[in-house]
Amino acid sequence: MSHYSSYGGGRSDDRWGGSSYGGRSGGYGGSSYGGGGGGGGGGGSYGFNSRGGRDELDNMALPKPDFSNLPKFEKCFYLEHPAVGSRSSEQVEAFRRSKQIHVYGDGVPKPVTSFEEASFPEYVLAEVIRAGFKEPTPIQCQGWPMALLGRDLIGLAETGSGKTLAYLLPAVVHINAQPYLQPGDGPIVLVLAPTRELAVQIQQECQRFGSSSRIKNTVVYGGAPKGPQARDLRSGVEIVIATPGRLIDMMDSRVTNLRRVTYLVLDEADRMLDMGFEPQIRKIVDQIRPDRQTLLWSATWPKEVQAIARDFLKNPYQVIIGSPELKANHNIRQIVEMVEGYAKYPRLRKLLDTEMDGRRILIFCETKRGCDELVRQLRTDGYPALGLHGDKSQQERDWVLQEFKNGTHPIMLATDVAARGLDVKDIKVVVNYDMPKTAEDYVHRIGRTGRAGAHGTAYSFFTGADARLARQVVEVMQEAGQQPPPELLQMTHLGGGGGGGFRSRGGGGGGGYRGFGGGASMTGANAIPVTQRRY
Ligand SMILES: Nc1ncnc2c1ncn2[C@@H]1O[C@H](COP(=O)(O)OP(=O)(O)OP(=O)(O)O)[C@@H](O)[C@H]1O
Ligand SMILES: [Mg+2]
Repeated sequence: MSHYSSYGGGRSDDRWGGSSYGGRSGGYGGSSYGGGGGGGGGGGSYGFNSRGGRDELDNMALPKPDFSNLPKFEKCFYLEHPAVGSRSSEQVEAFRRSKQIHVYGDGVPKPVTSFEEASFPEYVLAEVIRAGFKEPTPIQCQGWPMALLGRDLIGLAETGSGKTLAYLLPAVVHINAQPYLQPGDGPIVLVLAPTRELAVQIQQECQRFGSSSRIKNTVVYGGAPKGPQARDLRSGVEIVIATPGRLIDMMDSRVTNLRRVTYLVLDEADRMLDMGFEPQIRKIVDQIRPDRQTLLWSATWPKEVQAIARDFLKNPYQVIIGSPELKANHNIRQIVEMVEGYAKYPRLRKLLDTEMDGRRILIFCETKRGCDELVRQLRTDGYPALGLHGDKSQQERDWVLQEFKNGTHPIMLATDVAARGLDVKDIKVVVNYDMPKTAEDYVHRIGRTGRAGAHGTAYSFFTGADARLARQVVEVMQEAGQQPPPELLQMTHLGGGGGGGFRSRGGGGGGGYRGFGGGASMTGANAIPVTQRRY
């Protein structure tokens, strides 16, 4: 296989092998804090008490950095592959049409059509091939050249379509071209994500595709001890993935700084720019040099945040796969059932009894308490279910997700903490036991199934109280070729509808660390014994 691989430049060794700064005792194998270290071992040795309640974080003032006299840096590395360069504009248009790629901005590069054409370093390419991926997804085909050109970017593509690698692989190239970290330097690439579980997952993707390089990364998120995270930050890491609150906390205690950040990613950008997170994002972005490259990604892009996004971007490209309207992944069968509140539980049991075959089922509830109650009921009735929400300790959250991933507990109940970005293999069915607050959340929730080309089913229990969502849900269903039930269609004629308070959402991050003594990881409803287990 001949590679037109090109990104050697910048660093003198071709694999970034050199340890960044000589004085340290080498052997950075990509430091990581993988989320609690599993089992009981990771216990709360550090006594982190939940500082960083939202108001406190919003009010925390960080010193304004001086952006004059910054050293220049390189952010444009794109070398168009000859095969790409030789394509006519008709060919390019035909390819874009076939993949539903829509582009906006001046000087948009041609898309690549294969991994090889993206001209990533060979060791990055090798990882992609080892993962068994056959070809880039549409957002990758067009997003990679755009990102490699160093321009700001909004990338919008359906759930499960590979947005993570769309920003991570160019990040690797970006880092490769920067001078090595010096003692005291913070990261070069910063990825912000709305939930701890998602931040950990992105880091795992970093590990997976960066392991053959020697790029170091770490993940920084609330609810886990600060000590190991601080140690990683201090030792020098090129990539930091963070939830905003904990990162602000770390900057405030001068554990790290953002002076070296030149590549900034907001994953789940619309969520990061809605009211829950925006003040924290501003605070963080104010610490980053203005000539950075900024990349925003999501599967949904409501109008409410588009204006805010402008504050963070300069002359951005946009790449949109499919329509810019709210849309769901078409590999998901969407079934909406009109159910009265009292009838939800019997209906759920029936559904589980027909759908359970060992594959995973994810059930969304509106509130933490509702989630606990349903877990209690299901476990009492013999279903191996566990609950995940923001009132649980991080250790328990990690454990629940692990149990769900490894199939020991194939039913997971969750609030919206699990709605965005999570990529768990083989989720067969998503159930909206309670409808979400917004149609965007509906799209993200059901998008936990039907990922990376797989197919899945989403059931949604719709009550009269959800009427405000009727119109948008009908539109999302129809766009995906699904059949809304007649009662739902009828609701759309009764008025109601409308955007539904996207910006009025409550706080982000947060959540206290309630200390964990080790031992059993279950509390509350998760600890109810499953008698006469059904599956
Ligand atoms: N080119 C590819 N071919 C096949 N699978 C891929 C490819 N790129 C990424 N994947 C895999 O597809 C899955 C979904 O990717 P990812 O989590 O990045 O989706 P996403 O677009 O970020 O979705 P969401 O909007 O839900 O966050 C992952 O398991 C990832 O490893
Ligand atoms: Mg994602």
